[in-house]
Amino acid sequence: MKGVSKVVFPVAGMGTRFLPATKASPKEMLPVVDKPLIQYAVEEAVAAGATDLVFITGRTKRAIEDHFDKAYELETELQARGKAAMLELVRNTVPAHVNCIYIRQPEALGLGHAVLCAAAVVGDEPFAVMLADDLLHNPDGAPVLKQMVDVYNYHRCSVLGTMNVPREDTRQYGIVSTEAQRGAVQRMTGIVEKPDPASAPTTQAVVGRYILTPRIFDHLRKLTPGAGGELQLTDAIASLLKEEAVLAHQYDGVRYDCGSKLGYLKATVEFGLRHPEVSADFKAYLEARFAEHLAA
Ligand code: UTP
Repeated sequence: MKGVSKVVFPVAGMGTRFLPATKASPKEMLPVVDKPLIQYAVEEAVAAGATDLVFITGRTKRAIEDHFDKAYELETELQARGKAAMLELVRNTVPAHVNCIYIRQPEALGLGHAVLCAAAVVGDEPFAVMLADDLLHNPDGAPVLKQMVDVYNYHRCSVLGTMNVPREDTRQYGIVSTEAQRGAVQRMTGIVEKPDPASAPTTQAVVGRYILTPRIFDHLRKLTPGAGGELQLTDAIASLLKEEAVLAHQYDGVRYDCGSKLGYLKATVEFGLRHPEVSADFKAYLEARFAEHLAA
């Protein structure tokens, strides 16, 4: 089977937790310091070797298409003003060898349905799915999708990115069961979407990174509505693992849940503290605010 060169980005969700910011623009365009979430995800995909990026878009599709497209007026203006560094930033949102493909999800019927919309473009190849609102950061090693591609290349079967979560939070995640733990990669025995803490089989949660074999499309086509009345990717994976091995990979790195306000704020602080342009001033500001807070 071929390697992983196609990455699907489902960006057609309603983003209700970020209204009104997401009224006319997808949550994946929310910036962390100076880059939208979708660009962090695209950079992670390209670092893992992706050459075809498939965006599953919805009613607010324009902003993402425009972000990765050529911006003639802006580029001409920046050139005329001699702003070479800014021109580079605007031109390099995606490298020249990478194709961007846009597919419209007519209705937000769920993540499973969004991934199924990519079937014709993906064809008979393994592919990755990335949820850009999960911002995964591994400053001291390989980016998370690259770690997972390496696992795929070795084992040649589907791989899900996972992490341990507090038991009281299982209702927010797909939760996996695995064979006895031996290192960071384990064979899965089950997966269930958003279980109650009392009934969750484990606390190992799926985050927004998946590598899937094309067999998943057969299982997606047979889906019926699951948790929340949506067509759930998790249910198709539960069905896939009855016929193929699926691995859980506890990745190295930190995850910021930028689909939630608190996670987004944490990401902004972390990336702000690391940003070469503002880190020193931002750190001084935070220290001063913290001192004021303690004194109050
Ligand atoms: P979420 O469960 O985070 O839903 O979707 P959401 O609508 O984006 O956000 P909230 O919960 O209302 O705030 C997980 C991912 O699946 C995509 C979303 O864009 C997000 O990346 N998605 C979800 C689709 O592309 N289509 C769908 O029908 C549903």
